[in-house]
Amino acid sequence: MSSIASATEVVLPGKVEPEGLELRTHELPAPGKGQVVLRMEATGVSFAEQQMRRGKYYDQPPFPFVPGYDLVGTVTAAGEQVDASLAGRRFAAVTKTGAWASHLLVDAADLVPVPDGVDPAAAETVIVNGITAWQMLHRTAKVRTGQTVVVLGANGGVGSTLVQLARHAGVTVIGTASPRHHATLRELGATPVDYRDPDMYARIRELAPEGVDAVFDHVGGPAIEGSWQLLRRGGTLVSYGTAATKDEEGSSQLPVLKLFARLNAWNALPNGRSAHFYNFWAGKRRCQTSWQRRLAEDLTQVLRLVADGSLVPQIAAKFTLTDTVAALRLAESRTVAGKVVIVPET
Ligand SMILES: NC(=O)c1ccc[n+]([C@@H]2O[C@H](COP(=O)([O-])OP(=O)(O)OC[C@H]3O[C@@H](n4cnc5c(N)ncnc54)[C@H](OP(=O)(O)O)[C@@H]3O)[C@@H](O)[C@H]2O)c1
Repeated sequence: MSSIASATEVVLPGKVEPEGLELRTHELPAPGKGQVVLRMEATGVSFAEQQMRRGKYYDQPPFPFVPGYDLVGTVTAAGEQVDASLAGRRFAAVTKTGAWASHLLVDAADLVPVPDGVDPAAAETVIVNGITAWQMLHRTAKVRTGQTVVVLGANGGVGSTLVQLARHAGVTVIGTASPRHHATLRELGATPVDYRDPDMYARIRELAPEGVDAVFDHVGGPAIEGSWQLLRRGGTLVSYGTAATKDEEGSSQLPVLKLFARLNAWNALPNGRSAHFYNFWAGKRRCQTSWQRRLAEDLTQVLRLVADGSLVPQIAAKFTLTDTVAALRLAESRTVAGKVVIVPET
């Protein structure tokens, strides 16, 4: 197969510190049937990569591999059975791995158009984060105007998007974060609570004495009991991660399986509340086409909100692809508001 571009990519060679990331350059083959070449304009650091480098992501590929959950890029070449007019246009795509690269092959079916005038780095912050937040709010919790929700980790990539989308839907938001982020959370329209305060749950109860309609919990571990207890009758717990167990040695799947058992037990209780685990990839194996359609619909809505200014992308910092070590270090520093974005060399 003939080469179409020289691609620089960042490789995760095994369980390493961020400094263990490697750079390599290779010739990208021509796109196959149904594929395009995307020239990366922005990718970023998600919590997923922070877990992958520890070998702790639920279903990561074997090492070595190129991380990078999502990206914005411009199509530079199209393979057979791909509309040739895609060339030169800007798209967003979720790749799960592979996006930390200057150029990469992507299935054309996974492309979602980025509206004209939306900056690639801005769009990048709301791809997996925006879809996740939108689906948890509108497909899982089905929030309604006038309700009250709690967002744990409201400064993070998903958290800060959840806050804004909930506010846009007319929902009152209580957001937990370290005090350094409280001013930002207030600007986004949430009432902040310090997540290191030992009385955090009591503080939230003072703000919502009747209980809340939904809690979005990516922390997991024993503290998830506290999230469950915050719900009013009819309320929904949306669990979507186990950040609390990030540094534990051992199986990457065990904390998630323990969590599922706990959520199932709560659902069996006749107490008018429900507990869900949101999984971005759920339904893909059963019917890829409808999963892709749902993803495209939801991301299109989110990107429209970015285009009209209702959703303000939270870019924590920008690094170039060759500086991904620093990008990962910053994302892991526990000082960040929003998403750390990676852009090409200038
Ligand atoms: N289930 C799904 O399909 C799905 C999809 C997307 C994301 N997620 C999950 O969503 C979560 C957020 O992802 P992201 O990309 O938005 O991450 P991010 O931008 O790195 O934000 C991480 C958030 O988690 C907090 N955090 C970090 N370590 C923690 C710990 N040990 N205990 C409690 N809180 C901790 C951070 O607070 P500080 O800044 O104060 O450290 C921050 O608020 C992750 O758990 C990720 O796995 C799940």
